[in-house]
Amino acid sequence: MIPYSEYLRVAEDAAQIAGQYQKSRFASTLNIEMKGDKNLVTEVDKESERLIVEHLLSCFPDHDIIAEEWDYRQSGSPCRWIIDPLDGTTNYAHGYPWFCVSIGLEREGELVAGVIYNPVYDELFTATKGGGAYMNGNCLSVSTRTPLNNSLLGTGFPYDCATDPDNNFASFIAFQKSARGIRRAGAAALDLAYVAAGRLDGFWELKLRAWDVAAGVLIVREAGGMVTTFDGSAYDVFNDKIVASNGLIHDEMINMLRSVSPGTPD
Ligand code: IPD
Ligand code: CA
Ligand code: CA
Repeated sequence: MIPYSEYLRVAEDAAQIAGQYQKSRFASTLNIEMKGDKNLVTEVDKESERLIVEHLLSCFPDHDIIAEEWDYRQSGSPCRWIIDPLDGTTNYAHGYPWFCVSIGLEREGELVAGVIYNPVYDELFTATKGGGAYMNGNCLSVSTRTPLNNSLLGTGFPYDCATDPDNNFASFIAFQKSARGIRRAGAAALDLAYVAAGRLDGFWELKLRAWDVAAGVLIVREAGGMVTTFDGSAYDVFNDKIVASNGLIHDEMINMLRSVSPGTPD
């Protein structure tokens, strides 16, 4: 059986190849298409995905891939890579330097390796199951900050927030009143990496996709943090509601989400 660290090494290389490419194209003229009213995709998203998939499959040709920009053949392999080639596309397309590459690996349905790479800061966040979380080789742990009113939180809003009332606005107002501050930086994977690094104390968002969160969920857990759905129940990357925190403010966050969505089960 291949050790998780071997998968991680390959994923780190893939993330750095794509991240360096993103940096080289940053603030250049880009072909941009619309996937929806607000949802952009650039040629750099697509080329980054091509580079990542090419690298992963050159090392592990039998593995399956789920990624944002294309559908790939699913062969039923026990190993499945879950890839957001460029998280923070809106930022990237506007020349706002806050974006990353996110690559997670599931083996037999369990997250076992994750990499998030911010090429602008050259920060590489990594984790393997049971092996801890790291940033550029330094061990990561979540913050010890408590309670919620001393905490800095991250969140985001879905692309359909103007048309679907399930849009996070009520929770945002409630947390803005009760937490120390909220950041909507525009790259969910980096928000999760920041919870792992103790730079944010908590994060919540809805309607994220598996590629936004796969790597970050493992990195938060391996840094000692907690990840659940909005009602506090067990989370997997195909759930559409996520709360990640240092663990210490988790109950307060769940209670706040319950108070704004009274239908949330106990
Ligand atoms: C988006 C970012 C953003 C989040 C959106 C995501 P993309 O991913 O992570 O922070 O609020 O919901 O879809 O489109 O830039 O890969
Ligand atoms: Ca994304
Ligand atoms: Ca993306």
